[in-house]
Amino acid sequence: MFKVQGLKPLHGKIKVQGAKNAVLPMMAVSLLTEGRTEIRNVPRISDVFLMAEILRDLGCQVMFQDDVLEIDASGLSGTVISEKTVGKMRSSSLLLGPLLSRAGEVTTWYPGGCVIGKRPIDFHLDVLRAMGAEILDDGGMLIAKAKKLCGTTFRFPYPSVGATENALMAAALASGTTKLLNCAREPEIMELCSFLRSMGAKISGERTGTITVDGVEKLFPTDHVTAGDRICAGTYLAAAAAAGGEIEITGVDPVVLVEPLKALRKMGAGIRISGATGPKARIGMVMERRPAGVEIDTGPYPGFPTDLQSVFLAVEAAGSGESRFKETVYEARFEAAMRLAAFGADVSLHKDTAIIRGRYPLVPGIAETPDLRGGAALLVAALAADGLSVISDSGHLKRGYEDIGRDLRKLGADIEEDEL
Ligand code: UD1
Repeated sequence: MFKVQGLKPLHGKIKVQGAKNAVLPMMAVSLLTEGRTEIRNVPRISDVFLMAEILRDLGCQVMFQDDVLEIDASGLSGTVISEKTVGKMRSSSLLLGPLLSRAGEVTTWYPGGCVIGKRPIDFHLDVLRAMGAEILDDGGMLIAKAKKLCGTTFRFPYPSVGATENALMAAALASGTTKLLNCAREPEIMELCSFLRSMGAKISGERTGTITVDGVEKLFPTDHVTAGDRICAGTYLAAAAAAGGEIEITGVDPVVLVEPLKALRKMGAGIRISGATGPKARIGMVMERRPAGVEIDTGPYPGFPTDLQSVFLAVEAAGSGESRFKETVYEARFEAAMRLAAFGADVSLHKDTAIIRGRYPLVPGIAETPDLRGGAALLVAALAADGLSVISDSGHLKRGYEDIGRDLRKLGADIEEDEL
């Protein structure tokens, strides 16, 4: 439970954790090789702990000390991803491609994760079928088998991040060439491709959305430093936009934050990128006014990330104008927007669009986190509320933030946490 005393401007510097959405597929990919794969700058979040548990269940050795994860899949012995763990994490579907490729068989169930829409896995299954997998699907349990996956040409109906990742992992060791069209172009896809290449995979074209994979006989263990988490960086910038103040973020390449930074500038924030280019850059932000209204459509990268929609919407709830957010990625991602009513926010929903009329200050509220990023949105709203807000969380925030309370406190927020 978080107790947040609002109306304290944020000041300070913070280095963001490694990217959750980059680490999870790299953990899955480590199944494709025998020997010790080392991934550094890994966030200590529950989704990573859970993926580690699944890998251990499958017979892999996994060590996780500080921010270094070592995975050795030499002893892979299982092909069943238990229903219990799958139910807790949608990203377990990322194991389908690599397990099928390495062991020729997978038994699993439909995945869980954040409740932000239907989130089917039909594209994952279709691309694996196109590569020769036989998949029995009774709507709950899935049994997939393939003696040897074969190269194919497949067009994704939508540039799904997870399905693109699954296909890449399956194609790396398949026989022949796989051509994937309309692929996702998120930074995490670029990182997965570099990671696979460093293992010996032959992959090209990922920046264009059409990826060619020439299957190889064998992949080798590698080591890698994970990029900074662009969604965490965006969350902390949003927190400072709502609370006001001046902060500096390091550890993430500003290039992957183009749309969120554009939105913050439109709100009236002063943004300054300094130091080196790439992940060594420093992103400075000053916010000395109430955020002006913005119009944001979420979309696949390089569009505005859906994972920052609820957090930016919370900023605008305490803004000075009217804003419009159109959610194009998920059909049910306005749960946090509805819960902002507890803070006196003026939000109206019209199908895929939320209209927000900013009011400041917000009133202190009592609310429960609906999902990972929605939870962060409630904390952001509480920072702009005149008094003490109480936000309870049943574990959503720990799925993606190492310690969001610690980080916001480091920036000067008045946040207390207790276990209740
Ligand atoms: C990933 C991210 C998640 C982010 C999302 C969109 C990880 C671990 N998670 O999730 O944080 O919100 O990208 O940027 O990287 N879809 C289908 N069929 C499929 C697959 C997807 O219809 O087989 C639909 C989904 O329901 C959704 C849209 O495609 O509406 C995008 O989903 P996708 O890109 O696959 O998201 P994830 O990989 O699950």
